[in-house]
Order: sequence, then C-alpha cells, then structure tokens
Amino acid sequence: MSRVLILATGGTIAGTGIDPQRSWAYQAAQLGVDQLVQAVPELVGESLATRQVAQLDSKDMGVSTWRLLAQALQEAMRDPAVDAIVITHGTDTLEETACLLHALHDGCKPIVLTAAMRPATAPDADGPRNLLDAVRVARSAALRGEGGVAAVLAGRTWSARDVRKAHSHAMDAFDGGGEPPLREGESWPAPMGWGWACLSAAPPRVEVITSHADADGWLVDAALRHAASAGPLDGLVVAATGHGTVHQGLEAALQRAHQAGVVVWRSSRVARGGVQAREGDGECDGQGGAAAAWPAAGSLTAAQARVMLVLTLLRQRLQPPQRPPETSSIAPAV
Ligand code: SIN
Repeated sequence: MSRVLILATGGTIAGTGIDPQRSWAYQAAQLGVDQLVQAVPELVGESLATRQVAQLDSKDMGVSTWRLLAQALQEAMRDPAVDAIVITHGTDTLEETACLLHALHDGCKPIVLTAAMRPATAPDADGPRNLLDAVRVARSAALRGEGGVAAVLAGRTWSARDVRKAHSHAMDAFDGGGEPPLREGESWPAPMGWGWACLSAAPPRVEVITSHADADGWLVDAALRHAASAGPLDGLVVAATGHGTVHQGLEAALQRAHQAGVVVWRSSRVARGGVQAREGDGECDGQGGAAAAWPAAGSLTAAQARVMLVLTLLRQRLQPPQRPPETSSIAPAV
C-alpha cells in the first residue's frame, strides 16, 4: 500500500473548544497531528507517517511557515518511502498556500491539502472525514502517477489552482471560483514547477488594496510615504471592481506608485471570473484612465494574486528578467 505522509500546520481541524455546543468558541491549532490521525478509526493501522510542521491559526500564515513547509516537502519528495503528502491547514488562508504549492511544486508526487470548518471537539466535527478523504485521494493519486496539488474538502476535490474559501461558516465552504471540482480519476492541472528555491530570497513587500466607492488612493500615497523610511513597497495587487476597473482616484495613486517603481497587478473583488487579460490591455483608454495597463491576475483571488506577485518578484531577484513585468499585459500563467 502506498505510504502517505501527513504534514500538519494547525487550523480549525486541530482546534478545540470547552463547550461542544458552541462550536464557534474554540482555539485553532491545539491538537497534534497524531491526535488528528487517532480520531479517524479507518486510518488506524494504515501505512502513514506524520510530522508537525507548524501549529498556527492560518490567519497568521506567512513566508516563515511556507519555508518550513517547503523544507518538509522537499524531504518528502526525496524520500522513497513517501508516495503522497497530505497537509492539514486552516481554511482561512488555504487558498494562498494551495496557490503557492501549485506554483512551486515540480509535480513528482501528489500533495493534498485538507482542513475543517468545525473544531475537533464539535459534535459535527468535519476534520476526521476530510482527513480520511484526503488520505484516500492522495493514495489513489499516487497510484495513478499523479503529481499535482489538490484540496479535498467536504467530499469534493479541487485543483489547488482554483480552490478558494467562498463561505465564512458553512460546512461546504470552498469552491473553484467558477471551475468545477475535479472528478474521480481526472488528471489534476500540472503544477508550474518554479522550484522551492524561490522562498530562500528575502520576500518583497506586496500589499492588497481594494477599489470601492470613494477610493481616492489615500492608502497608496500613505504607503509610498511610509516606504521612504520603512523600506520599499515592491508590489500592489488591486482588488478591482468588476472585470478590473479601478476608481479614478485610486487609479491616479496607483500611477504614482508605478512611477515610484511599484509593480501593480489587477485582480477582482468579484467572487467568480477574476480579471482576464484582454487584447488592448496596456493601451491608454483615451480618457486619462489606464487601469487596463496593469497586468491581469486571471482567475486568482486578490490574496492568491498577491502570492503569485510575491513569487514572481522573488524569482526575478534570483534571475533578473529580460523586461520589467509591468510592461506585460499577460496574466500570470497559473
Ligand atoms: C484557520 O484558518 O486556521 C482557522 C479557521 C479554520 O481553519 O477554519
């Protein structure tokens, strides 16, 4: 039987509360990985290995934890005794870690993320079922020779490229941003294979800004002033309205940021569809606005686009590009 390594990072799946009836009153990241496995009778006696990589509420996720995860994953990729990897994670930033893994993994073994919407002490705890499903999906993916990244949640398997949290408290909280779940046995999208070495460079500062009524760019200008003393602002992802439009006040501030050397990308604040690159992106719209000049982040959420811009800038630090990314109107290839 193929051997699955479970890497635990915390989250609600490892959360506990004092009152099982108040499932919203709990602390994430309390149980260790072996306790999570012991709560699944079907996994007892299975060919599993476990490792506690981190223990955090995923709202606090960041490059330092991603480096630990990358280290554990690289070891697992080299270990002939490991056929597939399951990562337990918090739901809140699962889509960011999924996006990161999809970008960096080389596709030699399957990686499956899973999580839970209820803590382990809740009467309707969904963690044990999700963990069991994730191990089964990972095992069957390894048998098929699959090497991509997926997320298994509430009985469905999502490509790591598409998955995102779409409901703040429902048990079935994830969707694919308009893309359907993967069918059993269907090939997973090939990971991009950028390599784990990206994470070794000092991370750039990339922030997300939202376009909304009265968005006049005040925050962007404040960030530029702050950067003069606190260190550079390298990138901004705008969570734009609709299909990538930006309030003219914010647009003007983004132009100032661009002139100061900040890379600007457009995503959408709309739940599905994202901002697709279109012919004519990069040309002035003739009315003084130029939002279409910012590269479009495709179907990525703003948080995922931020991850991809961080990784893009990290790669450029390791291998300087032939031309600056802001002249490109091509959405990041994910
Ligand atoms: C977290 O993201 O770590 C807490 C919330 C959750 O897992 O649902």
